[in-house]
Amino acid sequence: MSEPGARKRLLGPADVSLEAGGAYADERVVDPQDTLEDEIYGASLRPRSFEEYVGQERVVENLRISIDAAKQRGEPLEHVLFYGPPGLGKTTLAGLIARELAANFRPTSGPTLEKPKDLVGILTSLERGDVFFVDEIHRLSRVVEEFLYPAMEDFQIDFVVDRGAYAKTLKLPLQRFTLVGATTRAGMLTAPLRERFGIVHHLDYYAAPELEQIIRRSAGVLGVPIDADAAAMIASRSRGTPRVANRLLRRVRDFAEVRADGRITTSVAQEALQREGVDQLGLDRLDRAFLRTIVEQYRGGPAGIAAIAATLTEDAETLEDVVEPYLLKEGFVTRSASGRRATALAYRHLGVAGAAPAQERLL
Ligand SMILES: Nc1ncnc2c1ncn2[C@@H]1O[C@H](COP(=O)(O)OP(=O)(O)O)[C@@H](O)[C@H]1O
Ligand SMILES: [Mg+2]
Repeated sequence: MSEPGARKRLLGPADVSLEAGGAYADERVVDPQDTLEDEIYGASLRPRSFEEYVGQERVVENLRISIDAAKQRGEPLEHVLFYGPPGLGKTTLAGLIARELAANFRPTSGPTLEKPKDLVGILTSLERGDVFFVDEIHRLSRVVEEFLYPAMEDFQIDFVVDRGAYAKTLKLPLQRFTLVGATTRAGMLTAPLRERFGIVHHLDYYAAPELEQIIRRSAGVLGVPIDADAAAMIASRSRGTPRVANRLLRRVRDFAEVRADGRITTSVAQEALQREGVDQLGLDRLDRAFLRTIVEQYRGGPAGIAAIAATLTEDAETLEDVVEPYLLKEGFVTRSASGRRATALAYRHLGVAGAAPAQERLL
């Protein structure tokens, strides 16, 4: 403890509030969720064919077989469900399926379909074989979901006309379409809905070499020269997520163009990412604040998610959905019934002594 003052600053709650504060979740460069910025600037980076889609080989191969088989039989493809964390390519795959089937792509999302009425218009306008994409399908309202069952199963919708004694159910036939659903929360789907999907695929995080390939391809699309080492560095900080990889690349490119000669070298990438608060393991300020809260306010845990959220003035659900999964996956925290605990890796990464064994502290 040669610098007690500095130590205190590092460990004190003031540091936590500096790094935290509700705003961080809104402007995270490592947020795996879709933002308007991605939609506008990321559209050109979306793979346009299965050949351009990197990784997830097993999923892609199985999909191609299903698609070829459906084409050979001259039948629409069975309903497909993709589940897995945000930013891994579920929406992209849905679009590619439509493309491969030479069918129309009709995207919508769970929360926008509030009433059965919202669905009727779309369903009745579908042509045979069309791909009807429902993003965030776990967020469908109960009535809409139940309305969807006969549409998926029998390609018809039932609706009730008149009331009381005169009420009768009319059946309206639909064209045979393919519903492609995507969800980050497979566990939140009801069994009857899940059972109506003939094809179900789980997408997993990408390995560093795959992300590197995505970054090199994206750099090519953006027309920015990039060194191989720099692509590898951005990949290693992208949290296994293509959307994050592309976003980091765009930020690094901006920096390279304004502060350097436009070429992305390792030192340019390193400096740009440092300015964004993204460290060498891909953690940003919010991740570190999350860990620091457990370590400093709760002596390493266990700490409840609501308590952590209150300390950080963040939304508990946001922390659970977009902060914790990566920290769990990388072994910075563990989760049990009693709460979250910081691991020795977390202590080491924060440079805080405590739970980590003596030798580890020296590293
Ligand atoms: N396998 C992939 N190969 C190349 N780029 C990908 C891949 N998967 C995703 N991406 C990129 O990441 C972005 C996010 O993918 P998206 O399909 O929107 O993810 P999700 O729907 O799972 O949240 C895409 O716009 C695309 O640029
Ligand atoms: Mg999506």
